[in-house]
Amino acid sequence: MIETTRQGNTIDAEELRAALSDTPLSGDVRHLREVHSTNDLALEAAQAGATGGVWVADAQTAGRGRGGHTWVSVPGDGLYVSALLSPRLPATAFDLSLAAGLAAWEAIREVSGLTVDIRWPNDLVTRERHSLKLGGVLVETAVAAPSTAGTPMLRYAVIGVGINVAHRTLPPELMDEASSLFLEGWQVPDRQPLLIALLQRLCVHVRQLEAANAAQLGQTPLAEALYEASTWLHGKPVRVPEEGGYTGTTAGLDAQGFLLVNDAQGTRRTVRSGGVRGL
Ligand code: BTN
Repeated sequence: MIETTRQGNTIDAEELRAALSDTPLSGDVRHLREVHSTNDLALEAAQAGATGGVWVADAQTAGRGRGGHTWVSVPGDGLYVSALLSPRLPATAFDLSLAAGLAAWEAIREVSGLTVDIRWPNDLVTRERHSLKLGGVLVETAVAAPSTAGTPMLRYAVIGVGINVAHRTLPPELMDEASSLFLEGWQVPDRQPLLIALLQRLCVHVRQLEAANAAQLGQTPLAEALYEASTWLHGKPVRVPEEGGYTGTTAGLDAQGFLLVNDAQGTRRTVRSGGVRGL
C-alpha cells in the first residue's frame, strides 16, 4: 500500500499505478488536468504502438459520447477515463462493451454502496422509472492485420468511461435526463477508489472473456452477472430505434451479448446497437 496525502475526490496517479501494477493496464498510467478527450490520448498512444495504459483527466474540452454526441465535462466532479487494452479477442467481440458497463456498475456498488442500473448495452442509469443517466461507455477498436485465414482479431480497444460522480447540480441541458452519484446518495463522493475498482474489475472481466474465447465457449461468460446488474434485460417494455423503430419487451441476451426483444407481433428480434429506451 502506497502512503498518500490525497485530498478527497482527487486523483493520485502514483497510487493508481501501484493498484494496476500487475494488470495489462500498467504500461502508461497518466492523470491530466484538462484534455480534449481521454479517448483521443489513448488512441494516439495505441497508434504509436502502446498496448496498455490509462488516461484519466479532471476535465475534457471535447469529450465524446456514443453516436457522435458530446460528453459534457464538469471539472473535478466527473470521472473521465480511457483504458487501452490489447485483448486476445475477435474483432467482433461485442461483450467487451458489456464488460465495461458491468465493471463500472460493480465499482459503483462496491465503493459508493449504490445499486444503479445498466441500460443495455452499457449506459449507467438510476433504477427508478425515469432512468436518469449517471455514466456511459465509448469503446473504440482497431482490427489486427490478418496473419492467417482465421478470425480477425482486435489489435487494440480503447474503453472510455464517463461517470457523473460529485456533481451537486447538473448543467441545465442535462437536468431532466441525468444525475450524479452524489445526488443519488453517495454523500462523500471520491473518484480515486471508484477509478481503481472500475479498472481492476475491467481487467478481471476482460480476462474472463479471453478465457471463454480460448475455450470456444460460444456464449458470453458475463451473462449471469449482467442479469443481476440490469433490470433492462428481461420483461422490460422498450422502444428500439433500429430497423425503422419498433416497440416490444426485452427477452434476455443472445450468445454474443446482443439484446433480444419480442416485438408487438410476437417475433423475437435481435438488437445490435444502443439507443433502446423504456416505454
Ligand atoms: C455515452 O455516450 O454514453 C458514452 C460516454 C463516454 C464518455 C467518456 S469520458 C472519457 C472518455 N473520453 C471521451 O471523450 N469519451 C469517453
